Amino acid sequence: MRRLAVFASGTGTNYEAIQRACEAGEINAAIELVVVDKAHAKVIDKALSKGIEVFVFDPKAYENKKAYETVILEKLREKDIEFIALAGYMRLFGEVLLNAYEGRIVNIHPSLLPAFKGKDAIGQAIAYGVKVMGVTIHYVDAGMDTGRIIAQQSFDVADDMSHDDIEANIHAIEHVLYPKTLKKLLEELK
Ligand code: GRF
Repeated sequence: MRRLAVFASGTGTNYEAIQRACEAGEINAAIELVVVDKAHAKVIDKALSKGIEVFVFDPKAYENKKAYETVILEKLREKDIEFIALAGYMRLFGEVLLNAYEGRIVNIHPSLLPAFKGKDAIGQAIAYGVKVMGVTIHYVDAGMDTGRIIAQQSFDVADDMSHDDIEANIHAIEHVLYPKTLKKLLEELK
């Protein structure tokens, strides 16, 4: 059974989808650690209620990225983490974690990359009036949503869809695509 860490900053619905898939045995893995950079993120209680260890840190309390990533890396090593899934983690990875987990860090992004990188991808896409939207899962590198693409799923945007409708569609896709993609990646992991 593979040992996963999930990094998140917010609500954690993708964390929950991964957790459910692990619990159901659909993914041969267990989430052993959740890393959160926001003290009041909803994902914290969701993980704690499942008995999962959560490491909450305040980036501002450290001198720089290297300093807090060094502490995170210690936690990951303590838990023998083999693979990292970012699920709404709003922070770029630095060299400490990228070097330690090369090829073993993935992210989910609510657009068809390389379009609409960064924050509020859905709002960006709506502002452009795009007619096809979607979700991307990609490897994480030092850039913002720039790593090699692993999986994508698209949908047609109907004229009468509101921002909320679109967001609900994106989430529904994410909650299936992320566990499915992780299952495959973890099966292929050497
Ligand atoms: C998701 O839409 C994901 O694509 C993006 O951030 C959102 C996180 O949502 N990176 P949640 O916290 O998993 O509900």
